Amino acid sequence: MKILVINGPNLNFLGKRETGIYGTNTLEALNDKIISVAKEYNDEAELDFYQSNSEGEIVDRIQQAFNNYDGVLINPAAYTHTSIAIRDAILSTELPVVEVHISNIFKREQFRRKSYVSDVSVGVISGFGINSYFLGIRGLIDHILQTEK
Ligand code: DQA
Repeated sequence: MKILVINGPNLNFLGKRETGIYGTNTLEALNDKIISVAKEYNDEAELDFYQSNSEGEIVDRIQQAFNNYDGVLINPAAYTHTSIAIRDAILSTELPVVEVHISNIFKREQFRRKSYVSDVSVGVISGFGINSYFLGIRGLIDHILQTEK
């Protein structure tokens, strides 16, 4: 089972950026933890990781995932609130996508409360710190297994 984990803009600064909101883990440390959680949950899970600050590159990567992955875990970061292009890329590939956020986007500024990705995702997990990724990967693995049957 192949899963692509995508992180959007400024998440390469995890551990340095607004640590009161996003915590002190680096993206590398987070990715290592996601691998451990996923493998412990289902040892068939194979993960690849991608981070970009560029909307077009994220669209390209989602398109490349078509036929190559069974699902995508994505934190689109600020593009969550703006990107019809990422939404359309998800619709184009028809891959199961789980959207995650470290912070609770519904509890923050008004402009963060809108997501262009949520209603084209299998589910959304927001507000549990980096645990959002761990909950999200498990949910995605379950979803992939259920739809394979
Ligand atoms: C975020 C929330 C977004 O509003 C913000 O732009 C981010 C991170 C989160 O994980 O909480 O960069 O997606």
